[in-house]
Amino acid sequence: MERIQAALQKAKQQSETHNFPERAVSFAAAIKDEVWTSLKPLKADPRQIAANRLITMTHSDPAHTHFDILRTRVLQQLRQNDWTSVAITSPTPGCGKTLVALNLAFSLANQKDCRTALIDLDMRRPQVAKLLGIREAPSMETFLKGQSEAEEVFLRHGENVAIAGNRAPVQFAAELLQSPAATAALKRMKQRLKPDVVIYDLPPMLANDDVMAFLPSVDCVILVAAAEASTFGELDACERELAERSNFLGIVLNKCRYVPEKYGY
Ligand SMILES: Nc1ncnc2c1ncn2[C@@H]1O[C@H](COP(=O)(O)OP(=O)(O)OP(=O)(O)O)[C@@H](O)[C@H]1O
Ligand SMILES: [Mg+2]
Repeated sequence: MERIQAALQKAKQQSETHNFPERAVSFAAAIKDEVWTSLKPLKADPRQIAANRLITMTHSDPAHTHFDILRTRVLQQLRQNDWTSVAITSPTPGCGKTLVALNLAFSLANQKDCRTALIDLDMRRPQVAKLLGIREAPSMETFLKGQSEAEEVFLRHGENVAIAGNRAPVQFAAELLQSPAATAALKRMKQRLKPDVVIYDLPPMLANDDVMAFLPSVDCVILVAAAEASTFGELDACERELAERSNFLGIVLNKCRYVPEKYGY
């Protein structure tokens, strides 16, 4: 408790000196939160991280700037609208949702005034734990049923990113995602971790009704399209549906083989 008090006092002094907005004060104080410090650290293998294209963790690949731009845009939208959660989906499988979700989270790790929680809610083909090399991933089914707490399922990367993988597929995914128990579990997670950003890695939209079932629980949605694979018809259908049922942030065009020429800076 003393540490929290000290952090709060320090943040207050900084805000008075630098005239930070009120929100930044809560960010700075919360980084020292006891719940966050109690999370087990994420021990990711750097080789696996590089092989799995998680480029924002190390900044070794210049393409990380694309994710940093995405991060800043998302963050601005969330802050402007007082939103917290963003879901990531795609029309069909394999467009790069999990990769975008993880790279966005690791890019947000460098935003020290912001705490991010990423949850694998692809209950059909969970991949977050696999991409990170987490061997003993928790069960999201147990978590969403309210049978485990945030501290048991999230791993901490750095000081301000918490990631929850999912051990195994779930049989009745849509039913679970729209259950009152799941809504309550996610609310409790937000109360405990007090994240500024929650990223949900979801399954593809056109394959089943999981995304539709979960949309009422999110503030906004990003659609990931795969260049040369996602069709205009698919994107149009998904965009209409998302715009009707949620706040549609936009489309991330992934897997582009051709990128605009660099400006040299
Ligand atoms: N920008 C990219 N460049 C090259 N390969 C990519 C890119 N994005 C994703 N991939 C590859 O495409 C495959 C699918 O990526 P990912 O698992 O992130 O997609 P997904 O949409 O989450 O898939 P699923 O629908 O199965 O959940 C992976 O092998 C990944 O490495
Ligand atoms: Mg995925």
